[in-house]
Amino acid sequence: MIFRQLFEPLSSTYTYLLGCEDTGAAVLIDPVVNAIERDLALIAELRLRLELTLDTHIHADHITAARHLKERVGSRIAAPAIDRLPCVEVPVEEGRPVAVGSITLQPLHTPGHTDGHFAYVCGDRVFTGDALLIDGCGRTDFQSGDAAALYRSVREKLFTLPDEHLVYPAHDYQGRRVSSIAQERTRNPRLGGERTLDEFRDIMAELKLPYPKFIDYAVPGNRECGVCPQGLPDELQAYCGRMSESRQG
Ligand SMILES: [Fe+2]
Repeated sequence: MIFRQLFEPLSSTYTYLLGCEDTGAAVLIDPVVNAIERDLALIAELRLRLELTLDTHIHADHITAARHLKERVGSRIAAPAIDRLPCVEVPVEEGRPVAVGSITLQPLHTPGHTDGHFAYVCGDRVFTGDALLIDGCGRTDFQSGDAAALYRSVREKLFTLPDEHLVYPAHDYQGRRVSSIAQERTRNPRLGGERTLDEFRDIMAELKLPYPKFIDYAVPGNRECGVCPQGLPDELQAYCGRMSESRQG
């Protein structure tokens, strides 16, 4: 399998390209709209054909490139069925593998960061979205987030995968790229070791994170599989790959 991990610095998002060496079919997990030219150039360079985009959840910090990629290269849009988005062409459910060429992804419902969040297992890799980050996890205070649900998702579903499975998160804010199930199960400071549900709840309740600056635009845009919202303030134009009005002169 051809595999690339791509980093989008504005939202610190990792996008994953998986390509089938037999058929040339490819899938992008969590593509970001302002990185679309980068992704298309890489796909062309590797002589792959983008068949599918696959999102882990309805993102609040960036706009998915799913719709734009469909318009540009005809890829189909896959996302969790539970969110019932009319724009989704391949509704994803646990127990129903997603196939792209000879690549198979096993969807795991991992609610808690959002209620519709999914992780995807592919061979010995697991794409954990925002459910499990390296030494961390996604926040649980928006989008029907629920600390108890996230605790169960991570400890009962992700941490029961084999030790050596590689953990590829949807974000990292410190340049870390990959971890393993054994490493996270052992030393994740929020969810690893002997951490109890009550302790985890307290940790999440005490984070006191700022209001997400892009959420009011990103969530409605992503509920349409990646529409850049009208009336985006100047300082947020870059999230749609656009220069701000003032920079355009
Ligand atoms: Fe998220």
